[in-house]
Amino acid sequence: MADLRSLLIEELQDLLHAENQLVAALPKMAEAAHLPRLKETFETHLAQTQNQVTRLEKAFELLGESAEPKPCRAMQGLIEEGQERISEASEKDELSADLSLISAAQKIEHYEIAGYGTARVLAFQIGEREVGTLLSHTLGEEESSDYLLTAVAKPLLQDATTGEHPAKGQRNGKSNRSKQLLNA
Ligand SMILES: [Fe+2]
Repeated sequence: MADLRSLLIEELQDLLHAENQLVAALPKMAEAAHLPRLKETFETHLAQTQNQVTRLEKAFELLGESAEPKPCRAMQGLIEEGQERISEASEKDELSADLSLISAAQKIEHYEIAGYGTARVLAFQIGEREVGTLLSHTLGEEESSDYLLTAVAKPLLQDATTGEHPAKGQRNGKSNRSKQLLNA
C-alpha cells in the first residue's frame, strides 16, 4: 500500500523550506516595489507567511514529527528569479519593474497553491483532519494573495497601455520614468 503519510511529511518539509525562504525574500520584494499598493500586498503577505510557518510547525507537531525543512530546489529557483527581478528593477521603468515583480510573486504563489493543495488532500485522506484544516487555511490565503496580485496588476497593465489609470495618484514621490517613456 502507498505510504501517504510519508508523502504528506515530504510535502510539508518542502513547504516549510519554501516558506522560510519566502520570509527572507518578501521584505526585499516589498522594498523593490514602487506602487504603494504592491508594497502593501507584499508586506501583508509577509505577515501571513510568518503565520503559515507557525501552522506548518503545528502540523508537524500534530503528526508527531519534528519540523525539518527539506531543501526545495523548485522554490529556490523561483526565489532566485525574484532576486534577479529585484536587481534588474533599477534598470527598468517603474511600471515594468512592478509588473515583473508581480509575475515572479505569482509564480511563487502558484507553486505554493499546488503544494498545499496536494498536502491538504493527503492529510484528509489519511484521516488527519486537524492538519488538513490548517493546510486549508493557508491554501485560502495563497489563493487570495494570487487574486490580489492579479487585481494590483490590472491598472498597471492599463497604465502601460494608455498612460492613464486611477492608481497613478497612489504612486510614491519618485519620478515616474514609465510615464516619461510613454510620453516621449
Ligand atoms: Fe505561503
